[in-house]
Amino acid sequence: MIVIKEVLTAQQIDHFNHVMAKQEWVDGSVTGGSQSNTVKKNQQLPADSAIVRGLEDTVLAALAKHPMFISAALPLKIFPPMFNRYGIGETYGVHVDNAIRIPPGSSARIRTDLSATLFLTEPDQYDGGELVIEDHYGSQPVKLAAGDLILYPSTTLHQVTPITRGERTCAVFWVQSMVRNTEYRKILFDLDQTVQSLTSQHGHEHHDVMRLSGIYHNLIRQWTDT
Ligand code: NI
Repeated sequence: MIVIKEVLTAQQIDHFNHVMAKQEWVDGSVTGGSQSNTVKKNQQLPADSAIVRGLEDTVLAALAKHPMFISAALPLKIFPPMFNRYGIGETYGVHVDNAIRIPPGSSARIRTDLSATLFLTEPDQYDGGELVIEDHYGSQPVKLAAGDLILYPSTTLHQVTPITRGERTCAVFWVQSMVRNTEYRKILFDLDQTVQSLTSQHGHEHHDVMRLSGIYHNLIRQWTDT
């Protein structure tokens, strides 16, 4: 489970909230899959307008140039972000995400290795509305600053607790990683972060830094599917 900070700037967040407030929201249970629909009580932006596609593209462009996201997710395919809103009393009960998702208007299949929530509302603007992720260490409540993103394995059970004050908007999406195995992905992330840190201390032409970087790329060759 990794927090990716500052995916969107404060100006982008303002723009998003300004644009989203003027859109027509629909019942969120139109997407989600049969198992999750019974527990999903939120609103969603229909993906069929140029304005919403513009927001999606902004998120995807921000992800594409965020080194921490690339390092952690090693993305092969990304399901276009969906924009969700939770008002008072709205919630998304405990569920699992569908293993395979097909983006609207496409025949491509995306295997959900990683789930992501990009927070678009500052945490002091609402109460409740925590993303609670159940992993082997227990339940982890997550509530991040607007613009920050949580990336977590799609194999987990998770929920969004009911809102008791204010309103929470977020973008959610899924990633099919080039590295399907979560443990391998974790090792690659640690190794990449170590190489980055050693590079900043010694420069990338340092012989051992170069060797370690070579090991990273050799593991990528072993473990990726593209
Ligand atoms: Ni989910």
